[in-house]
Amino acid sequence: MEDRGGAASSAEGDDTLARLQLAALDAVANAIVFTDARGTIFWVNAAWASMTGYSRDEVIGQNPRILKSGAQDKAFYAELWRTVLAGRVWRGELINRRKDGSTYHEEETITPLCDAAGKVTHFVAIKQDISERKRVEQRLRESEERALRAAQELTVAKERAESADKIKSAFLATMSHELRTPLNSIIGFTGILLQGMAGPINPEQKKQLQMVRDSSRHLLALINDVLDISKIEAGQLEVRCEPFELSPVIERAVASVRPRAEQKGLALEVSAPAGLAPVSSDARRVEQVLLNLLSNAVKFTDHGRVSLEVAADAERVSMTVRDTGVGIRPQDLAALFQPFRQLDTGLSRNHEGTGLGLAICRRLAELMGGEVRAESEWGGGSAFTFVLPRRRGAP
Ligand SMILES: Nc1ncnc2c1ncn2[C@@H]1O[C@H](COP(=O)(O)OP(=O)(O)OP(=O)(O)O)[C@@H](O)[C@H]1O
Ligand SMILES: [Mg+2]
Repeated sequence: MEDRGGAASSAEGDDTLARLQLAALDAVANAIVFTDARGTIFWVNAAWASMTGYSRDEVIGQNPRILKSGAQDKAFYAELWRTVLAGRVWRGELINRRKDGSTYHEEETITPLCDAAGKVTHFVAIKQDISERKRVEQRLRESEERALRAAQELTVAKERAESADKIKSAFLATMSHELRTPLNSIIGFTGILLQGMAGPINPEQKKQLQMVRDSSRHLLALINDVLDISKIEAGQLEVRCEPFELSPVIERAVASVRPRAEQKGLALEVSAPAGLAPVSSDARRVEQVLLNLLSNAVKFTDHGRVSLEVAADAERVSMTVRDTGVGIRPQDLAALFQPFRQLDTGLSRNHEGTGLGLAICRRLAELMGGEVRAESEWGGGSAFTFVLPRRRGAP
């Protein structure tokens, strides 16, 4: 009884298991197809039907080639067949066509089943639709290509900008040379005429010649400023680093503004510690910064005094130009150092200039490792401090 019962329940169990397995195969998300050795379909699961759009009844007895889209060539299928007929598993991607004509990408594994003699008798193909993944991959590729193209365009644009920059600098350098040469000769010959070396001149001629000389000098200074700022902005201005005595540099800068200060009735005072040790920097540029600060102080002061105070320690020299002039509004202090910025004080149009002086000063000071700071009180005068490291690179 027990045996019979056991045999019966085992046979029943086999049957149940087979039905369960089939139900499971039908329930999985992957599409599954069974074919014979020639590829004739004799079973597909529900996922296969929904993936291809063909009903089971339609495809039993058919060959999977009904799904061929034509996107892959003969050699591709020949390789597939060679593999599976040799009894090996084939894995790959196929581009197939559904019943409704739309194409899709699938990832497929074809496993051949062999008999005892090793002859292929069946194939089991398990596949999954990877169209979405392909779409995402394609989109990703496109984005990458777009990013690459954008990067290339950027490189081209950058190179173009750089070469345009070089052309601009070369143009400015040549132009300013071309402009400066005749200007220098105008200034030189006007000087000769003024000194009476070419014969006597009357007072009116002298006055007019002085105007010619002043305007030419002014134009020359302007050209130099424009050239400086362009070079600085293009990162092409280099400052020297050579030891020099600071006192003569200070004296020259002060001497340049003294006539104008005297003309305006301003006191001009310098206080510097005795025996200033030499500094290693660019003497011409230090003088240029000082001269700019001093001439601003004289320009924007109508009454009182302009002073230059020099203080030095082991690392740096600080030079403060102080005036009792119009002063600067607190909100305008930040804009001071921008190129071509002249403050709208209502007064500034009375003063000539282009608004380049302080922009150049600050950048020159920075190139020399230092800085220019401004403090001011509206209506109460200003103080500009130029801090210069004793050696370039020192803090
Ligand atoms: N000592 C100062 N007192 C009051 N305002 C000043 C002083 N120095 C500069 N400024 C203000 O800052 C502006 C910018 O100064 P900056 O030296 O750059 O130009 P500028 O003197 O007008 O022209 P440039 O120096 O190019 O001939 C000036 O136009 C002025 O309004
Ligand atoms: Mg100025």
